[in-house]
Amino acid sequence: MTKGLTAAAALMMAAIAASPAMADDGEAAVQYRKDVMTVAGASMGALGCFMQGGCALEGPVLARAAKSIAFSGELAVDAFKVDTRESMAETDALPKVWEDWEAFEGGLTEMSRAADELAVAAADGDKAAMGPLMRTLGGTCKDCHDTFRD
Ligand code: HEC
Repeated sequence: MTKGLTAAAALMMAAIAASPAMADDGEAAVQYRKDVMTVAGASMGALGCFMQGGCALEGPVLARAAKSIAFSGELAVDAFKVDTRESMAETDALPKVWEDWEAFEGGLTEMSRAADELAVAAADGDKAAMGPLMRTLGGTCKDCHDTFRD
């Protein structure tokens, strides 16, 4: 790389750092939180497949899937903290997320708590014990999506 290019790159980095409200920042934040939710969705899919008898997954695998949902809930708190109400990024998150942050964050805490509980029963591959815990966990997804997602 030539010296000129390096200087131009440095200037660009400085410009990016100096304007945190840039549209691109919103895009990245929205993409990241969607990715975090996608992980939760993928793990729910694997657990649901097991419950319906479509996938023969071992206890440790099921427990990891449940724990990944619990961890997604923790990641989501940080991911959604970035207020994108002013961004042009395409999102299904309603402005209510930031207007009622405490309730939103509480929903994520509920999700993580329910997933942690499920992970215990899942470790034994105990379908009967997992059933009601899966429903509770699924309820936390639905409750939040009904209230905070378009
Ligand atoms: C406290 C709120 C909350 C909880 C709990 C929650 N979600 Fe979400 N979820 C959202 C919001 C808000 C969006 C929209 C994000 C966006 O478009 O910026 C979303 C989007 C999604 C998406 C779409 C991602 C994409 O690529 O557009 C999936 C899949 C998803 N959630 C799965 C789940 C699953 C599975 C659970 C439960 C295990 C769950 N969510 C729990 C708030 C929540």
